[in-house]
Amino acid sequence: MKAAVVEHRGQSGTVKEVAAPQPGPHDVLVRVVAAGVNPIDWKRRDRPESPLPLVLGQDFAGIVSDVGDRVTKYRKGERIFGISREHGTYAQYTLVPEDDRAQPIAKIPDDVGDADAAALPTAGLTALGAIETLSVSKGTPLLVLGATGGVGSYAVQIARDRGAQIVGSARSSNESLARSLGVDKFVAYDKEDAAERLRGSDIEAALDLVDDSDGIKRLAGVIREGGRIVSTIGAADVGWFATRKIAATNLYAVDTPQWSHAGLRTLLELVEQGRIRTMIAGERPLAEAVDALEESKSGSVDGKLVITID
Ligand SMILES: NC(=O)c1ccc[n+]([C@@H]2O[C@H](COP(=O)([O-])OP(=O)(O)OC[C@H]3O[C@@H](n4cnc5c(N)ncnc54)[C@H](OP(=O)(O)O)[C@@H]3O)[C@@H](O)[C@H]2O)c1
Repeated sequence: MKAAVVEHRGQSGTVKEVAAPQPGPHDVLVRVVAAGVNPIDWKRRDRPESPLPLVLGQDFAGIVSDVGDRVTKYRKGERIFGISREHGTYAQYTLVPEDDRAQPIAKIPDDVGDADAAALPTAGLTALGAIETLSVSKGTPLLVLGATGGVGSYAVQIARDRGAQIVGSARSSNESLARSLGVDKFVAYDKEDAAERLRGSDIEAALDLVDDSDGIKRLAGVIREGGRIVSTIGAADVGWFATRKIAATNLYAVDTPQWSHAGLRTLLELVEQGRIRTMIAGERPLAEAVDALEESKSGSVDGKLVITID
């Protein structure tokens, strides 16, 4: 099969022929139709400890092409999507266990397209986990930094669906996009400093998708006492925030209850009911998968990039 693979440390990846994975008794072999691009894909590629060779990618949508003899929930020909962390997804085939806590999968309903399904898993489940962790409900004053990226675009929509009051930051040219997702008050990070602009605000919950450990501390001045903050990049000094009566969490989506079959079903329901939508930033053929990864690494993708695979 063709796959985007990294064979040597420091390589960005090349598309080449490799052996397709073979299903064991509990495995589902999937012909990948579309693969979502996430920052974790290039972060894992760039980590010196990642085992090689590495087929890039973890989010997929595709068609079941074979199942192990112990598999009961999926059948050949069914459309499924989810997360395949061990075998990679920028490839014509991937392999996932039928039931694996770390690699949730689910069937795709007929009214959800392949690109939309492939874009959802990692960013959507992370957004769902963050919004739950922050206990966002009707009227919650919520700040989302990075509101128009993969996680941010889903998080804003899920929070809007719950009736939150949303302050969101993004590049100034993305103001109308941010507002269309559900941002009520917009902060252009390239023109003004969010912590400065919002000083003295009464934010109850903050989702920081971008700031480093110094940057995130500056948000203490905008969050109310008893408030909550989540970082998805491990930037929150939990003890430091606790002394300011703010509950901080470094969220690892894979450790949340939302990273599950049930979490995928919740996202599908939101999509099917038109309560969230996927913003597809672009679709690229497998031959351009490595370029797509560089695009993601540049940090200027609005919504989700998807790789389509013949
Ligand atoms: N811990 C976990 O389990 C977990 C799970 C998922 C993701 N993550 C991490 O969370 C981060 C976000 O993921 P993602 O998929 O949303 O990434 P993404 O799609 O690349 O989006 C990042 C967004 O941040 C915006 N941005 C950059 N600098 C900003 C700033 N100073 N203020 C406000 N916005 C800014 C970018 O907008 P512009 O284009 O306008 O610059 C971009 O839209 C990544 O580092 C990812 O690895 C962690």
